[in-house]
Amino acid sequence: QAFFRPISCSSPPSPTKRHTKISIIGAGNVGMAIAQTILTQDLADELVLVDAIPNKLRGEMLDLQHAAAFLPRTKILASVDYAVTVGSDLCIVTAGARQNPGESRLNLLQRNVVLFRSIIPPLVHFSPDTILLIVSNPVDVLTYVAWKLSGFPSNRVLGSGTNLDSSRFRFLIADHLDVNAQDVQAYIVGEHGDSSVALWSSISVGGVPVLSFLEKQQIAYEKETLANIHKAVVNCADEVISLKGYTSWAIGYSAANLARSILRDQRKVHPVSVLANGFYGIGDGDVFLSLPAQLGRSGVLGVTNVHLTDEEAQKLRDSANAILEVQSQLDL
Ligand code: NAI
Ligand code: LAC
Repeated sequence: QAFFRPISCSSPPSPTKRHTKISIIGAGNVGMAIAQTILTQDLADELVLVDAIPNKLRGEMLDLQHAAAFLPRTKILASVDYAVTVGSDLCIVTAGARQNPGESRLNLLQRNVVLFRSIIPPLVHFSPDTILLIVSNPVDVLTYVAWKLSGFPSNRVLGSGTNLDSSRFRFLIADHLDVNAQDVQAYIVGEHGDSSVALWSSISVGGVPVLSFLEKQQIAYEKETLANIHKAVVNCADEVISLKGYTSWAIGYSAANLARSILRDQRKVHPVSVLANGFYGIGDGDVFLSLPAQLGRSGVLGVTNVHLTDEEAQKLRDSANAILEVQSQLDL
C-alpha cells in the first residue's frame, strides 16, 4: 500500500462488478485463440488455463501475462491441477485430438471421450455451478458426453456447434452479395459436420428475406448456387486444415462471442449445440445438435421457433440420426 494513500471515507469502496472467471481446458491452437480473444475483449476478470503439458502451459501463461500493458487488467493463472479452476463461471473445453487433413471429426470420438472422463468430473467438483461450453470435436457428441458425465441440467451444457459454420455461411453469402457479414442473418443448424443444414428460408440481408426478395424481383437464382455455398461451408475446415494444419482464429472468435452472450447476459440468439429432443420432430434418444438458442447468464434460456420448411426439418432429423448413430457406439 506504499504507492497509494487511502482516501478518507466511511467504508472502503466495495467491488462494484461481479468477479467473472473463465477456465479454458486445453491450451492448444484453439484454447489459446479463445484465450487471446477473451483477453482482448475484456470478457473476464480471471482467466485460467489448464493443460496436460506443464511447460507449454506455463509458457503460454507467461506469454499472455507479458501483454498486460496492452490489455484490460485480467488475472491469468495456469496449472495442470484442476483446483485452479475453482469457482469458474464458464469452463470452455478445447482439450483433445484434432483431425488430420481429410479426417472426419467423428473419427476423434473414442480418443476424446477418454479425455473427457478425466476432465469433466474435476471441473464439476471445483465449479458445481459453472456452465460448460464444449469445443472439442466431435463437438455435438462430446457435448452429450459432457452433459452425461457432469449431471448438470441441460441448460448449463452447450457446444459451440454451428456458431462457427454460420459465421462461415454469413461470410460466403456476404461475399457473394457484396454486403457486410454482420448484416446477414443466416443459420446453419444440426451437426457441426457433414450433415449440417442450411436454413435458406430464414436468410435475410439488412432485414430483407433473401429468397422471397429474389422471387419478388424475379431474379433468377439457381438452387445450385445455394447448394454450392453450403457445400463450401462444410468444406471450410478441411481446406484450412490442409493448408495450415488446424483451424483456430475463427473458432477463437466464435467461442468468445458465445462467452460474451452468456457472461454478459446478452439474451442473444446463437446456433449452438443443445439438447434437441422434442424440437422439430427429433425424438428417440438424447441428442445434442445446433438449433438457434437464446443465451444468457444461466446458459441456454430457450430455443427459438424459427420456421423450417418440411425439407429443412427432415434434413435436421437426418442430422440428428447421424449423430445418434455415432453416439450408439459409446460406452459411457
Ligand atoms: P491442439 O493439439 O493444438 O490442442 C489440444 C490441447 O489439448 C493440447 O495442448 C493438449 O496438451 C491438450 N490436452 C490433451 N489431453 C489433455 C487433458 N487430459 N487435459 C488437458 N489438456 C489436454 O488441438 P487444437 O487445434 O487446439 O484442437 C483442439 C480440439 O478442438 C480438437 O478436438 C479440434 O477438432 C477441436 N476444434 C473444434 C472446433 C469447433 O468448431 N467445434 C474448431 C476447431 C477445433
Ligand atoms: C472446424 C473444425 C476443426 O470447423 O471443427 O474448424
